Amino acid sequence: VGDLFCGSAVVARLFKEMGYRVIANDNLWFCSRLAASVLRINREPTFAHASALIPGTLIQKALFDNPYDLVMEFLNNLPGIEGFIFREYSPDGTNGGAAPRRYFTRSNAMRIDGIRKEIANWAKEGRIDSDEASLLVACLLHAANRVANIAGTYGAFIKRWDPRALRDLRLKRLPIVESELEHEVLCMDANQLVQQRSFDILYLDPPYTWRHYGAYYHLLETIALGDEPQVAGKTGIRPWEQNKSRYCSRTDAPVALRELIASANSSHIFLSYNTEGLISHDQIMEILSLRGHPLYYETAYRRYRSNKPPDHNKPLKERLYYVKTS
Ligand SMILES: C[S@@+](CC[C@H](N)C(=O)[O-])C[C@H]1O[C@@H](n2cnc3c(N)ncnc32)[C@H](O)[C@@H]1O
Repeated sequence: VGDLFCGSAVVARLFKEMGYRVIANDNLWFCSRLAASVLRINREPTFAHASALIPGTLIQKALFDNPYDLVMEFLNNLPGIEGFIFREYSPDGTNGGAAPRRYFTRSNAMRIDGIRKEIANWAKEGRIDSDEASLLVACLLHAANRVANIAGTYGAFIKRWDPRALRDLRLKRLPIVESELEHEVLCMDANQLVQQRSFDILYLDPPYTWRHYGAYYHLLETIALGDEPQVAGKTGIRPWEQNKSRYCSRTDAPVALRELIASANSSHIFLSYNTEGLISHDQIMEILSLRGHPLYYETAYRRYRSNKPPDHNKPLKERLYYVKTS
C-alpha cells in the first residue's frame, strides 16, 4: 500500500496493523519521521549502542527493565540548554526582539534543545541507527506538540499561556506495531513518486485547502531537521517555499491530481477529500473516470479547526473515492 500524503501516519499505521507492506511518503521531513517511527520499527528497539553508554549506576539501570524506557528516562532527565528553540520560540529567548514569541515556556524550549542535541550527537557518533533516531525524534515531536502554546497549528501562538503549555515536557514511549515485513518511508513530492513506483493499493489524502502544511507546522519541521534556519516575522516562520504544495492552489490542484491519477501504477486507488476542498466533486469524478468507474462514500465531518458555528444547510462531509483501475 502506498500512503503518499501520510501526514501524522495514522493511516499508514492502520495499514501496517492490517498486515500490508506499506510505503509512506510526505514532502515534509517531520511527517516522514513520524511515519518512520511507526513503519521502520518492527519490534521493541534495543538501543544496543546507546543504552550501554548511558551514565548511571547499575541499580538505576535495573529500575528500567528495558532499554527503550531507560533511554526515555535518560533523555527526560537531561538538563536543558539555551539553543535555537529557546532563542527563537520562548519569550525569554526572544525578549531582546520587539515581539517575544510564546510557543514554549523557557524550560520546555530548553529541554527540546537539550534532547534534540543529544539525539543528534548519538546519531553522529553511530550510537543509534537512523530508525532509532527517527523513533526518538518522533517521541520529541509528540512531546513538544503536547506542550506547545498553540490552538491547533503553529501558524500562531496564543498570547497568554494555555495551561497545557505550562506542563513539563516529557517524552513517552510510542506504541510499537510488530511486523515481519520491511516497510519504506520517503520524503518527496507525491507526483514524482508515482512516476517511479508501482503499488497494489494507493491511498491519497492530499491537502484540500490553501493552507500549506509547511507554513502551518514550521516549528515541528525545524525540530525534526534540527537545523537553525533564518526565521522571520511574528511567528518566526522558517523558509518553507520548497514545500509549497500544488494541492493548495485552486488552479493547480486539479491539474496536479489529474497528473497523479493519470500516471499512477496501481490496481486500486483511494482518494480522501472534503466537500469544501479546492477541487470540486465533479472535477474529481471526471479525473478518476480516466482510470475506471469511480465510487464514493461520504461521512459527516467536523469542520477543520474553525471557530465558525456549523452551517447546518451546508454540512461538511469527508468523501472517500475509490476506483479500480482497468
Ligand atoms: C491532509 S494531510 C494528510 C493527513 C494524513 N492522512 C493523516 O492521517 O495524518 C496532507 C499531507 O500531504 C502533505 N503534502 C502536501 N503536498 C504534498 C506533495 N506534493 N507531495 C507529498 N506530500 C504532500 C502535507 O505535508 C500533509 O502532511
